[in-house]
Amino acid sequence: MFRSSRLSFLLLALPYALGRIVPGQYIVELENVSSLGAKRSYGSPHDALYSDLQKRGIAYNVQAQYDTQGIFVGASLSVSPEEISSVASLSGVKAVHPVHSVSQPKRINARVAKAGDATLPDAESTHIMTGVDKVHAQGITGKGIKIGIIDTGIDYNHPYLGAGFGSGFKVIGGYDFVGDAYTGSNTPVPDSDPLDQCNGHGTHVAGIIGANPGNDFGISGVAYEASISSYRVFGCTGSTQDDVIIDALLKGYNEGMHILTLSLGGVDGWIEGAAGVVASRIVDKGKVVTIAAGNEGAYGAWYASSPGTGLDVISVASVDNTVIPAQNATVHGVSHDPISYLSAIALPANNTLAVYATSKDATVTDDACSALPDSTPDLSDKVVIVRRGTCSFVTKLANIAAKGGKIMLIYNNVAGFSSISVGDYHAALISAEDGAWLVSEFASGASISLSFPQSGGAANIPSATAGLVSDFSTYGPTYDMNFKPAVAAPGGNILSTLPLALGAWGVESGTSMATPFTAGSAALVLQAKGTGADIAKGLRSLFQATAAPVSATTSDGDLQTLAVQGAGLIQVNAAIGTKTIVSPTQLLLNDTAHLNPIQTFKIQNTGSSTVSYKLTHVPAGTIATFDTTTGFPVDGPIGVTSSHATVLLSQSQVTLRAGASATIIVTVIPPSLSSSTLPVYSGYIRIASSAETQQVSYLGAVGNLKDRTVFDTTNKFFGFSLPAVLNSTGDVQQNVTTYSLSGDDQPSVLFRQFFGTPLFRADLVSKDFKIPTLSHHKRDLLSWLFGTNANSIAGVKTLGVLAEYDYIPRNSDASDAADNGYSTIVVDGTFADGSKIKDGSYKILLSALRVSGNPNLITDYEMSLTSEFIVKH
Ligand SMILES: *[C@@H]1O[C@H](CO)[C@@H](O)[C@H](O)[C@H]1NC(C)=O
Ligand SMILES: *[C@@H]1O[C@H](CO)[C@@H](O)[C@H](O)[C@H]1NC(C)=O
Ligand SMILES: *[C@@H]1O[C@H](CO)[C@@H](O)[C@H](O)[C@H]1NC(C)=O
Ligand SMILES: *[C@@H]1O[C@H](CO)[C@@H](O)[C@H](O)[C@H]1NC(C)=O
Ligand SMILES: *[C@@H]1O[C@H](CO)[C@@H](O)[C@H](O)[C@H]1NC(C)=O
Ligand SMILES: *[C@@H]1O[C@H](CO)[C@@H](O)[C@H](O)[C@H]1NC(C)=O
Repeated sequence: MFRSSRLSFLLLALPYALGRIVPGQYIVELENVSSLGAKRSYGSPHDALYSDLQKRGIAYNVQAQYDTQGIFVGASLSVSPEEISSVASLSGVKAVHPVHSVSQPKRINARVAKAGDATLPDAESTHIMTGVDKVHAQGITGKGIKIGIIDTGIDYNHPYLGAGFGSGFKVIGGYDFVGDAYTGSNTPVPDSDPLDQCNGHGTHVAGIIGANPGNDFGISGVAYEASISSYRVFGCTGSTQDDVIIDALLKGYNEGMHILTLSLGGVDGWIEGAAGVVASRIVDKGKVVTIAAGNEGAYGAWYASSPGTGLDVISVASVDNTVIPAQNATVHGVSHDPISYLSAIALPANNTLAVYATSKDATVTDDACSALPDSTPDLSDKVVIVRRGTCSFVTKLANIAAKGGKIMLIYNNVAGFSSISVGDYHAALISAEDGAWLVSEFASGASISLSFPQSGGAANIPSATAGLVSDFSTYGPTYDMNFKPAVAAPGGNILSTLPLALGAWGVESGTSMATPFTAGSAALVLQAKGTGADIAKGLRSLFQATAAPVSATTSDGDLQTLAVQGAGLIQVNAAIGTKTIVSPTQLLLNDTAHLNPIQTFKIQNTGSSTVSYKLTHVPAGTIATFDTTTGFPVDGPIGVTSSHATVLLSQSQVTLRAGASATIIVTVIPPSLSSSTLPVYSGYIRIASSAETQQVSYLGAVGNLKDRTVFDTTNKFFGFSLPAVLNSTGDVQQNVTTYSLSGDDQPSVLFRQFFGTPLFRADLVSKDFKIPTLSHHKRDLLSWLFGTNANSIAGVKTLGVLAEYDYIPRNSDASDAADNGYSTIVVDGTFADGSKIKDGSYKILLSALRVSGNPNLITDYEMSLTSEFIVKH
């Protein structure tokens, strides 16, 4: 019997470097047992699959097997790409997805602290920002709640993480799916012990949830009495794969975790990714799943990270801490306040060190960028002051070290503080003012020296970006105009635990930090309200309704776009205490072409007395998401403008008796703006009583996503038009070149996408091929069956398909492939179905279905042709 299976990734015979797709590995989803039972005599759907594969002579290797009825039944298989369409057509196969590699969100900074520092003032600053301090004061600390952390493992030997493993300890269990040596591209070596002594990421995450109070830093985890299970999916370095993440999600679910938290992800923009789908199904079963929004804010909008894109998971953005954990140095010889330097650990100097500046000019631009002069004294007993700028920090520090320098302070050349990389040198950043002052004292010949208290020097520098969305936090929305991220939590400049071998404590930044903060906060809510499925499923709405909107800048102005802050900074005390239930909390308006302008929400008063609510529209800033000059999305952080939507409410006031509810009708009129920059607008309907304030969030785009150009066909990248043919040495082919297709003598096609596509294809065509003039096509004749016709795309005849993928993210405007700046596909001699490419003169036709386009309509595709090349075996 013929069944058509949905292939998430259709055909691929080629090596490629397309985004995060791992060649030759597939996640195969199977019909579950109950639906197969009647037809099959096999014990399990897996046995039926393997038997079918053997019968057809398809070689395969099982990487993982999934068997959680109602969530995910299937396997991760290595199969030759040429066979994958046969696998997809097997009876019992529901879907096939390519495996994706997944990284820890880029680490923003890491500074090591050490125990012994005095209690910091405002140590619990992140708890104060979110009302967690008030929840702790009520004795709610996560007791009885189980949180599964899917990460790099945990150093459970840490004294503030329970100093042990197994029942009775804080870290009650877990599993290591991969082993220390796993890099994301070698074979995992699993064992039952998720100890992390080499990476540290998961230990930092664990401390944000669970660090015990009473430590020298005066901090504690958000839910320090919760129980933790550690599911280790990363080795000491490198990335992981989404088939491993699915394994971990299912294990955490089957082991009874109330909450699963994942500080990981990769650029996507689509909600369809396999791990996100599994995570979303776990939420539908009544569990909480929190996932990092990503640290790719620099690349602008339409860059949402998966699996955080999973429909019902809570995707978490980052807000900067109100303070930056630092250390103070003491000034001697001249009366002056201490000098704060950006390090969580004291610089290792017991003695008082004389100040030496490499330049007496505090405006020097290239201080210590070349070897220091012969006249430089021995610097080994000095603290050396050097100005930031021109060359790398490490270059400056190496030049200073060449003269014996051991302890260095780099003064900023701009206002404020930012994290810097100093390699293995003992160096830290100080402010521009402090640097200028030290230089002027040194230049005047004053006898000035500094000491570095080895304990008691810890200090908090007020942050200039306190409470704002962190610059690195990734922007949504998704390509189907879903609201991602969902909420924000503190993630910028967070002090937490590290493995003992890596210094025990340290400061890191990232949505990796905001995500466990939200998981811990969810544990507090579940402890307070119960762990029932309805409460867990309602948690995202509760956090959204009670969040605090975040401003775009510190000056009075617009609120930040909801495309990067989600509904705002979570307020855990309000989420627990509220007597008003609002739903839904997200009004998804879509783009103007698919505008859904009239929507409703319900307000319910669950309290015991009558409450009057005032309803108002609170707009947030609008962002222009595309740069009409480059064609690429505008880089972040994106400035906001005040071109707001107009919002009409059916009522501006509502009074509800105890238990009563009311439905409010909302009509949203998008701002009248040009669609050329695909503006994203957003805001809130505020629902305020005398006791509390809640809100419903809305978000939409001006324009039609379908009008967005997918392919970059300009010459801005290489000076050559794209898509370009690269020759075997990786250079853009200048003239028509002949390839034997054997060995390395293969051409590849390089392309860049301004926007994502739900369906991408590369076809081989003859050199005389012309892209049809689309308007002349009779649409109704072009019914193209999805994935079934290897020799035509939406009615356009080709010589055969080289590669086909669905749900492909856009590229970034970075210049390298590692940062997703472009994609390549190598022509290795065969079509996707394994048949050989014959001698001839060819071009490659790239086709992309436009976002929200109809796969059967040629007019909804964008097609782009390479230059000519010759194949002669
Ligand atoms: C499993 O099969 C049963 C019976 O056909 C069906 O009701 C159920 O929805 C299926 N579950 C999933 C997750 O597909
Ligand atoms: C650290 O130094 C700053 C700047 O001089 C000062 O304001 C602060 O009080 C000091 N903090 C501690 C804990 O000494
Ligand atoms: C500072 O003194 C302590 C105690 O004597 C010693 O353990 C440590 O190694 C010294 N550090 C440096 C950098 O000299
Ligand atoms: C927006 O419209 C597109 C096209 O109809 C649709 O595919 C998508 O699901 C819609 N998004 C939402 C959030 O409704
Ligand atoms: C590839 O192209 C570059 C630039 O035209 C050229 O210098 C190089 O020799 C070519 N490589 C081969 C193997 O043809
Ligand atoms: C490419 O062709 C041009 C003439 O069209 C010629 O001048 C040039 O030398 C050729 N370059 C190579 C690398 O063969």
